[in-house]
Amino acid sequence: MDMVEDYVSEGSIMQRRDAQDVLEEFNCELSKMRGRCLDIGSGPGEITKEMLLPLLPNDAEVVGADISEAMVEYARKKYSVDKRLSYIVLDIETSELPSDQVGRYENVVSFYCLHWCNDIWRAFDNIYKLLRPNGKALMMFIGHHCGFEAYLRLKQNPRYQFYLQDARRYVPYFQRRMCKDVRASLRKMLEDVGFEILHCSKREKSFSYSKQSLKNHVCAVNPFIKKMPDNMKGEFMDNLLSEIMKNVLIPRTLERKDDEQESIVLRYYLLIAYVQKPPAAD
Ligand SMILES: C[S@@+](CC[C@H](N)C(=O)[O-])C[C@H]1O[C@@H](n2cnc3c(N)ncnc32)[C@H](O)[C@@H]1O
Repeated sequence: MDMVEDYVSEGSIMQRRDAQDVLEEFNCELSKMRGRCLDIGSGPGEITKEMLLPLLPNDAEVVGADISEAMVEYARKKYSVDKRLSYIVLDIETSELPSDQVGRYENVVSFYCLHWCNDIWRAFDNIYKLLRPNGKALMMFIGHHCGFEAYLRLKQNPRYQFYLQDARRYVPYFQRRMCKDVRASLRKMLEDVGFEILHCSKREKSFSYSKQSLKNHVCAVNPFIKKMPDNMKGEFMDNLLSEIMKNVLIPRTLERKDDEQESIVLRYYLLIAYVQKPPAAD
């Protein structure tokens, strides 16, 4: 995900709201997070600096990590004027973690990132390795969102097939697997990695968009558009929005009935896990 400006300007309102909710809920735990905390998928760094850092103890240090060099560069420029804050490029799905990062962190947090991982088991295993014994991880990511099904439907259109070849890889793991009891599956996966579960939940959420704000959001987070020729981008976005709108559960129109004022409510669910690496683990 490299479209930094799009994400920052208008593409991340839902993510900010949901991160705020989790940070408020886990405020007490966060206020006790001493030592080094790694924020995985820190993106442009705004949440890391403005929302996470102020909740941690004064002597805690935060490292934002992201697979995207563009995101890390932006975060370093805009959100690192604090000596307790730094940013690194890191792929949480890597088959080999940099040796200097292993066992380096007392805490890990991750907001709206892990659903990007094709191999989420590997991501959890890497989080386990990054933590010190007794270390804790607070993770929030998408379990299911109708927007991802729209990718799969558009892949059937021969015009887009080439660009959406790997569309399935971007559908969140538990949505792709059509797990019946997602919370139990997540819990088991985390236990298999070695974690003790402190909290594991599935949350129904909804977010209300105008047509334009939905377009901004979808544009900022979709991995295909940057590969397309310029003359295809606009038309693809229009078709993507139409596909997403087919799954809108509660369409309602506000008093002003012009197109821009139409309110589009999308439902999705989030997975939230708070886990601990056992004391004696290596
Ligand atoms: C939707 S943004 C979330 C940014 C921020 N945490 C927030 O809540 O606004 C997801 C971020 O995860 C990053 N990401 C995706 N896959 C990743 C991976 N395998 N390892 C590290 N970061 C990844 C993307 O580059 C992107 O910056």
